[in-house]
Amino acid sequence: MRTVRLLLIGFGNVGQAVAELVLSKEAEIRSVHGLALQVVGIGTASHGLAQDPDGLSLSRALGLVRRGGDLRQFSRQPIPSDIEELIRHTQAEALLESIPVNYESGQPAIGYLTSALERGMHAITANKGPVIHAFAPLTALAASHGRQFRFEATVMDGAPIFSLWREGLPAARLDSFRGILNSTTNLILTLMEQGRSFDAAVAEAQRLGIAESDPSGDTEGWDAAIKVAILVTVLMGVPIGLGQVQRRGIDGLTEVDIRQASEAGRRWKLVCGAKRIGERVEARVGPEQLDPGDPLFHVMGTSSAVTFVSDVLGELTISESAPGPRTTAYGMLADLINCVRPSSAATPSPSLTAA
Ligand SMILES: NC(=O)c1ccc[n+]([C@@H]2O[C@H](COP(=O)([O-])OP(=O)(O)OC[C@H]3O[C@@H](n4cnc5c(N)ncnc54)[C@H](OP(=O)(O)O)[C@@H]3O)[C@@H](O)[C@H]2O)c1
Repeated sequence: MRTVRLLLIGFGNVGQAVAELVLSKEAEIRSVHGLALQVVGIGTASHGLAQDPDGLSLSRALGLVRRGGDLRQFSRQPIPSDIEELIRHTQAEALLESIPVNYESGQPAIGYLTSALERGMHAITANKGPVIHAFAPLTALAASHGRQFRFEATVMDGAPIFSLWREGLPAARLDSFRGILNSTTNLILTLMEQGRSFDAAVAEAQRLGIAESDPSGDTEGWDAAIKVAILVTVLMGVPIGLGQVQRRGIDGLTEVDIRQASEAGRRWKLVCGAKRIGERVEARVGPEQLDPGDPLFHVMGTSSAVTFVSDVLGELTISESAPGPRTTAYGMLADLINCVRPSSAATPSPSLTAA
């Protein structure tokens, strides 16, 4: 049995779901993969930091944070003063980072992931910021240390998008893709079709814990646009930023628009897409009125779906239903196992290696 020491940075919805998944799949991961996962450090913004080289009790950490407690209570001395010190002092094999996205710079997550890679850890994130702002340098840094930078959970949560292209589709060229990549807006549009106003639909999505207290990242299309930019950068090999994605959100759609579409047997969706045009890629996010013949017409509620068109397979569709912190956590756990299991190559395949 090989012990794999982990450092969790971010212990909110996703970080806690990672801890729950590690607990619930402990026996399976031991018997199938021969790996004993041990969390030796946890870092948060306001719930403190904890480290113990012999392993922290995840059930205790979950209970403590959920009661609003401070993780320092059960950290071994000396307690690190900040996240960077925690990363420096923790002898972990992988860092799993799940802090809130910073659309503008990707920081401070890029700094955390960089420090981890420099100390020989694999770097795994659920956070889109570091991927869009630092995919190339983090991938190169990982390769130079014989480690991996993985980010499966950043697009469609646990659905294996990047693994599919990394392991399942060698020598395939992605020519275009089209899909619904933002669950929150899809739920809001579904609720509006059921007769709710935009504001009432947003409020309901917030009550269900799907929309954030400030929903503009979703409703204005930023979340969808960053996912499009990530897919274009990583899978199409054309590095683009958020500014190169034509973006419109659903905030301009009214109840009348939704009702008129419905009466005509059609449906509004926030559609994401990109296609190669010569050496460049055209990328976009915007509301489209779809008819029932469109496969995206049937993607309802929090579900999402993407159809890839490649030079070898034609159309290949992946869809996901009922996403949430647990499916996101699974994306991170899958990344971790793929990084550390014996059959895994330390260096990513050329299709996922930054130019
Ligand atoms: N929720 C999902 O289903 C989902 C799906 C896909 C991707 N993601 C991505 O996953 C990430 C985490 O989402 P979440 O829902 O878990 O967020 P969350 O519940 O707000 O948790 C964020 C965690 O990060 C900590 N944190 C905040 N700023 C920090 C900093 N500067 N340094 C260290 N720790 C910091 C917070 O500390 P405190 O505990 O002290 O507040 C908290 O523990 C985001 O990037 C999100 O976009 C989430």
